[in-house]
Amino acid sequence: MNKKIELIMDNVSKKFDDWAINGKAESMEKGHGINVLKFLKKISFDKPFSFLDVGCGNGWVIRYVSDLSTCKKAIGIDKSKKMIIQANKKINNNKESFVYTDVESWKYTGKFDFIFAMESIYYADSMEKAIEKIYKLLKPGGKFFCGTDFYTENKATTKWASVMKIQMHLHSKKEWKEFFKNVGFITTTKQIKDLKSNEKWKKEFGTLFIIGTKPAK
Ligand SMILES: C[S@@+](CC[C@H](N)C(=O)[O-])C[C@H]1O[C@@H](n2cnc3c(N)ncnc32)[C@H](O)[C@@H]1O
Repeated sequence: MNKKIELIMDNVSKKFDDWAINGKAESMEKGHGINVLKFLKKISFDKPFSFLDVGCGNGWVIRYVSDLSTCKKAIGIDKSKKMIIQANKKINNNKESFVYTDVESWKYTGKFDFIFAMESIYYADSMEKAIEKIYKLLKPGGKFFCGTDFYTENKATTKWASVMKIQMHLHSKKEWKEFFKNVGFITTTKQIKDLKSNEKWKKEFGTLFIIGTKPAK
């Protein structure tokens, strides 16, 4: 089967195509923005770097990162064509670009200093394959920042799977760390909470970030 048709027929792509035209890309930007920006502001971007956002939605993280003076190149990829159309409409400098593809089958020969993903990896057909591909896309010493609100310990979010009605792989913090370790990452985690939120889980559990460092050669 032709790859393009495969992408169009995928339930995840279809769901997020719908979200892109129903204003939910902006809701995600708002909903995820507080914790993601809190996290990104603690990262040292002091040396020139390249950046990839896997499952970039409308591209809001790419716009934030590409505004940093040390950013040389920032690419957002997404398997929802309509998310990529939205992201392309908002491009505001020549460091940014967006590609309609899933990460697993993306044919890209370059390597990145940083790869980021927020709430996208658990939708992959195989999380192992997605994480393994991300590892390959990093330079030695490069880092993968992976954010998820959907994890076993965060019980309030585990019901999302029955609401979304598409594949969502639920894992504990320990299991996420295992996935990263198995492909070769040196792994740490951070939970970023939003103490001002009206939502209890954001105050008590927050966003889990799994941070994988590819060992330097
Ligand atoms: C919950 S949304 C999050 C969007 C964005 N990261 C944000 O925080 O606003 C998940 C996005 O990941 C994309 N996605 C899911 N699996 C993907 C994959 N394997 N490769 C690329 N994109 C993927 C979806 O199409 C969707 O736009």
